[in-house]
Amino acid sequence: MQFSSTFAVLFALVVHFAAATPTVLVKRATYNDVATVGYATLNGGTTGGSGGPVTTVTTLDDLTSAVTGNSSKIVVIEGTITGDAVVKVGSHTTVIGAAGSSLVGVGLRVLNEENVIIRNVKISKVLASAGDAIGVQASSQVWLDHLDLSSDRDHDKDYYDGLCDLTHGVTGITVTNSKLYDHWKASLIGHSDNNGAQDVAITVTMANNYWTDLNSRTPSFRFGHGHIFNNVFDDNNDGINTRDGAQLLVENNVWTGTDKPLYDTDDGFAVATGNDFGGASNTAPVGNFTTAPYAYTLIATADVRASVVSSAGQTLAF
Ligand SMILES: *[C@@H]1O[C@H](CO)[C@@H](O)[C@H](O)[C@H]1NC(C)=O
Ligand SMILES: *[C@@H]1O[C@H](CO)[C@@H](O)[C@H](O)[C@H]1NC(C)=O
Repeated sequence: MQFSSTFAVLFALVVHFAAATPTVLVKRATYNDVATVGYATLNGGTTGGSGGPVTTVTTLDDLTSAVTGNSSKIVVIEGTITGDAVVKVGSHTTVIGAAGSSLVGVGLRVLNEENVIIRNVKISKVLASAGDAIGVQASSQVWLDHLDLSSDRDHDKDYYDGLCDLTHGVTGITVTNSKLYDHWKASLIGHSDNNGAQDVAITVTMANNYWTDLNSRTPSFRFGHGHIFNNVFDDNNDGINTRDGAQLLVENNVWTGTDKPLYDTDDGFAVATGNDFGGASNTAPVGNFTTAPYAYTLIATADVRASVVSSAGQTLAF
């Protein structure tokens, strides 16, 4: 602990002198970090396994057993783990991807759990027969941060399922600093048109993410409340789809290359401010979600691209 904070200060000073302009002192990430942005900070916050024992895993079997159960724990993935499976993560758990680590064909699911953090994990090519790359269902207080999620677009749209699907009444979810790319169906929020009784409770924050080369669902958002700010969307076929009475607050995002960046299906709503739609238009009806129930920092629209694209994905140093 002492060593790493001393190192962080030295690192920042080196950057400061090398750049010859005042530099903001950036704190290094630690395994014990807790959520600081969005809905995950409410209802007692999201601490995952902060303070718990640390286990490092390098195989699918070890990963599967290390993340099981509700004891407070931190699980660090090292190297490449390949398989055809979705691993269930228990409550009060933090899953960290070490630099250069990767899950290939292996997704993570949070089902009927609470208080989970997944950070810096790279996941690719999870087959639809196994599930989503990241699937959060019927759970609360989950922080997904600095994820790298992709597959390819060489197969039909149902060969892979979602990259980041948040369904069945999930609450207190924050997705930050993540990169979603090269995929058909990126992010389904709200299970189906018939699941309103459960999904009306949904609360999701999506901030500072980079979305590119996606066909649809960037995201598709049903029924609940969503706060979507400071994202960059490049060359996706689709935009944000607000559906079935969803109330979205959409602020300071940047798009290029889609002709429907923000639109509704079956009466979804959006309050949209400060966005750069890349020459296209927002066609969603104005809703009543005007103020997020927490404090947050908006990056100026003109600075969003430079800030977000360079830092999204598996870029943390621990
Ligand atoms: C862990 O906690 C979740 C959420 O409270 C609960 O649904 C689940 O049954 C618990 N699992 C175990 C193994 O106790
Ligand atoms: C927002 O609008 C929806 C849909 O018209 C309505 O059901 C809800 O009560 C409104 N909420 C507030 C706080 O006005």
